[in-house]
Amino acid sequence: MFSAYFLTDNQAILESKNLSPLRLVRLMCEFSPMSSPFIPPATQEIENEIFRRAGVELSVLRLDTMHPLVNGNKWFKLKYNLLEAKQQNLTTLLTFGGAYSNHIFATAAAGNLFGFRTIGVIRGEERLPLNPTLDFAKQQGMQLVYLNREAYRQKHTRELQEDLRQRFGDVFIIPEGGSNLNGVRGCTEIVSDTGKFDTICLACGTGTTLAGIALSLNQNKRVIGFPVLKKGEFIAQEIDNLLKNYLDSELPAPTHSPAPWELICDYHFGGYAKVNDQLLMFSKQFEQQNSLLLDYVYTAKMFYGVIDLLHLGFFQKGDRLLLIHTGGLQGNIGMEKRL
Ligand SMILES: Cc1ncc(COP(=O)(O)O)c(C=O)c1O
Repeated sequence: MFSAYFLTDNQAILESKNLSPLRLVRLMCEFSPMSSPFIPPATQEIENEIFRRAGVELSVLRLDTMHPLVNGNKWFKLKYNLLEAKQQNLTTLLTFGGAYSNHIFATAAAGNLFGFRTIGVIRGEERLPLNPTLDFAKQQGMQLVYLNREAYRQKHTRELQEDLRQRFGDVFIIPEGGSNLNGVRGCTEIVSDTGKFDTICLACGTGTTLAGIALSLNQNKRVIGFPVLKKGEFIAQEIDNLLKNYLDSELPAPTHSPAPWELICDYHFGGYAKVNDQLLMFSKQFEQQNSLLLDYVYTAKMFYGVIDLLHLGFFQKGDRLLLIHTGGLQGNIGMEKRL
């Protein structure tokens, strides 16, 4: 069940500016029926001759190790959605995703962890046996329902959401990927202290995580996003919209303008969830050299991009890069089965 802390101090949590996200998750876990604790993300330095020669420092923020099930950017995107659901006294979360979705996986686990019923609306037809992601979600208690691709495209519309409410009752709807303003708000807490780092790099799907990170940093930092979809340039507009909507909302806003950000769209490897031998080989080699697993859909493409850009002289001597490991390793199980 949700913690007594939530029930009594929910409002205090939402209003508190001093309670760090990690303190919050610790408090949540003290009351959690599951024993795995949330741990603060470590910063891991990457030792590499190429970087040394270029005079560029590179470290990784390991969001992937925060919790075995609810980790990466997913925890940050879910946090304020769960709190808002609780505030509205809603006990069922309904969300959307593809058959291998990290967001479906994490929402199912978070629902189980914090006492919510969960419904996953999955794009496409049911395929049995379930793939590892959906099998896990089901084991966590998530009810899986399927929408054909055409209906799924209507997921943002009032009509479809009303249909779902008619069918499942009063549910708290979280958009696909957790990409709403609650998601952005959570992501403002990812990089609480950039310390010596001046350049933050991360993979982008919807741009929600980038928007949150850019909001949390000042003009002395820069954020570089690597879209994992083909023709990812359109994400820039989505990020602009998220930033504008966030700053126009009543959510806690920074006192400074968002950090400058840009997208580098050349490392999608053919599109979303597409991989080739080059990427797989890079990923394996990187893992062996640095004892750090990368997911093929997001982080491997971003890491590849950063290292390629380094070879191309994009980064300058003295640059200090912090790469965000946004998790997603659960997806490798399904991907490896398909390769
Ligand atoms: C592992 C991982 N990394 C990065 C992203 C991209 O995040 P965003 O959609 O906020 O750009 C996602 C999708 O949420 C993800 O699952």
